[in-house]
Amino acid sequence: MGRDIDSRIPGFYKLSSADRLREVEVRAGLSEKEAAALRGLEGLDLGQADSMCENGVGTFGLPLGIAVNFVVNDQDYLVPMAIEEASVIAAASHAAKLVREGGGFVAKASDSLMIGQIQVLGLDDPQDARTRLLAEREELLAVANEQDPILVELGGGARDLEVRVFSETLAGPMVVVHLIFDCRDAMGANTINTAVEAMAPLVERITGGRVLLRILSNLADRRLVRARATVPSEALALNDFDGGEVAERVVQAYALAAADPYRAATHNKGIMNGIDAVLVATGNDWRAVEAGAHAYAARFGRYASLSAWETDAAGNLVGTLEMPMAVGVVGGTTKVHPAARAALKVLGVETAQELAEVVVAVGLAQNLAALRALATEGIQRGHMELHARNMAIAAGARGNLVDKVVARMVEEHTVRLDKAEKLLSEMSSQETILE
Ligand code: MEV
Repeated sequence: MGRDIDSRIPGFYKLSSADRLREVEVRAGLSEKEAAALRGLEGLDLGQADSMCENGVGTFGLPLGIAVNFVVNDQDYLVPMAIEEASVIAAASHAAKLVREGGGFVAKASDSLMIGQIQVLGLDDPQDARTRLLAEREELLAVANEQDPILVELGGGARDLEVRVFSETLAGPMVVVHLIFDCRDAMGANTINTAVEAMAPLVERITGGRVLLRILSNLADRRLVRARATVPSEALALNDFDGGEVAERVVQAYALAAADPYRAATHNKGIMNGIDAVLVATGNDWRAVEAGAHAYAARFGRYASLSAWETDAAGNLVGTLEMPMAVGVVGGTTKVHPAARAALKVLGVETAQELAEVVVAVGLAQNLAALRALATEGIQRGHMELHARNMAIAAGARGNLVDKVVARMVEEHTVRLDKAEKLLSEMSSQETILE
């Protein structure tokens, strides 16, 4: 469990970015250096960047924000999100506030089990090869465990061996060995790849076949998280729509994602907006999670929604999101990138499972926010208001002047920096006269 932190910061969005960072710095107990890393001033230096990729020429910045209001498993979290798309962080924060009214998210991660694949070709009798591999299970698992004694000492390691037979493929019959390995707090790609490479010669000796691929599977369906949110219908009311009506519309909107891959792709993209932003901020491999998410969404043979929405007997809106979540809090970029390290400190998660639970809760929040807006006033109005708010703050507006400048720009359908500056100077001089 993370530390005791209050993720409710009323009016956070109205502060300047420097004031917001100060607020987060104090609440998360960040050092000056860590705060500077989040601000981007002391982020990844060129030397570190050069050691992380090839032919390096520099670094690439992304906006970093903090989603507020999150409660997951009775614990408050401030959630760092790195994303270039406007509205995502506001939407997550707002949805988290709605879910907070129903007690917050409940999320549960399974053990951190990853799958490594070993492909075996050139077999006369694949079924017999399978039987022989399963008979040598203990020896094969022992070879896997020898590759990472520290992880084994920490309670991780090889858990199981499965052998699948494909009697007909483009390359003839083949056998695929699955190593099931508990990676604990690491994402585990390196560990798994090392283990399956080490097992390959023994697999060849046992089967008499030829091993080709030795690589992890991104369909991490043994490393699942299930998050659930219950929102009292009153909390959902929006403009002319009462809460019950909004709940019903959200369920109807979800029905299209459940029925139609064209909608499911967009629906899931909205979920990944939130998930990827946290993964990027914490230095996790978002491509791996993306691959796993979409493969999981198609696991029944047809691409479908990752989440599900319904109303319960009391009329509450209830959402669930279940998906693979291969993330780590140790090793890799999470350790090297100073901003990722600081982001993890803000989040205050101690294990990969805790991070995975928060990440999936953010995905569900993002989905709720999108469906609520889409099923009522559409998303453009909210986008315009947020854009106006950013312009007002960039023009120098603070406190209640932010709201006033925003209201005028939205009313006049003109959202531009020069307009914000003009309105601000008019309003400031009016306030001075009235004083
Ligand atoms: C935009 O980035 C995401 C949405 O399209 C998601 C959705 O349609 O559910 C708004």
